[in-house]
Amino acid sequence: MRVGRRDVMPDKNFRIFATADIGDAAIKRLRERGYEVEAYPNPESPPKSLIIEKVRSGIDGLITTLRDPIDAEIFEAGKGTLRVVAQYAVGFDNINRADANRYRIPFTHTADVLTEATAEFALFALADLARKLWSAEHLVRENKWGYWHPYLPFLGDEVTGKTMGILGTGRIGQAMIKKCIGFDMNILCYEAMGANEKLVADVQQQMDLRYKSGMQRERTSINYVSIEEALSQSDFISIHVPLLREGESDTPTYHLINERTLRTMKPTAYLVNTSRGPVVDEKALAKALKEKWIAGAALDVYENEPLPPDSPLRDPEIEDRCRLYPHFASAARITRLSLDPQRGMAGRCVQALIDVLEQNYGGDVTKMPYVVNKEAFR
Ligand code: GLV
Ligand code: GLV
Repeated sequence: MRVGRRDVMPDKNFRIFATADIGDAAIKRLRERGYEVEAYPNPESPPKSLIIEKVRSGIDGLITTLRDPIDAEIFEAGKGTLRVVAQYAVGFDNINRADANRYRIPFTHTADVLTEATAEFALFALADLARKLWSAEHLVRENKWGYWHPYLPFLGDEVTGKTMGILGTGRIGQAMIKKCIGFDMNILCYEAMGANEKLVADVQQQMDLRYKSGMQRERTSINYVSIEEALSQSDFISIHVPLLREGESDTPTYHLINERTLRTMKPTAYLVNTSRGPVVDEKALAKALKEKWIAGAALDVYENEPLPPDSPLRDPEIEDRCRLYPHFASAARITRLSLDPQRGMAGRCVQALIDVLEQNYGGDVTKMPYVVNKEAFR
């Protein structure tokens, strides 16, 4: 049974440090419950030394973003006092899970509320890339639009009816699949954890319905395949895996896209990455774009963020086929700031923090919906 918010006020004034301002509404909600909240006021992330200092000062809860490295040093500073780390993101590769478990500190994330926002962004990024929206607007703005012509100065590639390769069929991958159905696409899925047969059955049923009713011209299909097959057969590849480094998983995803895997893609294929930057070897990708092993790439995430000025991805020679965004996929107003835990990252982040500190769910961390490292408490 889901136990909702408790109306009783906590009997202790919890102290919170947030490494970023997560919005007025969220901070107000905590303050209304008697929490003392300090949010780092600058837009950049605070230095790690400052986070350690705050944790050492005895805070009960730490609100983090994907920019903050959270590891043993932080947990050691909070020994005996720090009770929860509430990450304002679905991804949590910046948090050392083994260290959190060793110190028995639960950490939470904001899954689900940014699923659709991220998937639609991946689709729009793909559209920008394949239909050359960025180049097209530049043509107009730079007064280089001199004529309407059947194929000059350039053409894009249509998305409808093509084959989409989805790497990772978790929440966001599935949302992307759902949107691709509407584009009459064939779908090839790769998932290290194994096929989701229910997903295949449900999606195939939708595709068949669309075909039978005449809504789409061709019969389409969804199949789980090997990563090699997904890469070599797809017109578009969209990455939706978590970042798992060597030693963190039997199937690490660090540099999953590298020189070898890029060479298996079609020269006409496009790559979209809205997951985590280090899943793609950027040096190899820049080379692949320059030497035209693939047709293009759209990236929202990078090995180092913000993208360094000397990144090979900025090479003007590949500018027309390399779209670059500022880790922006979840950056929609409601997705980021809504106080509703079912709709917004801010709402979900503070609810997760409150659940742990106020011992909702009978104080059983393993029952709290947003706690990630439940294994440490079983
Ligand atoms: C954004 O990248 C997130 O993980 O929420
Ligand atoms: C395009 O604008 C067309 O009319 O075909």
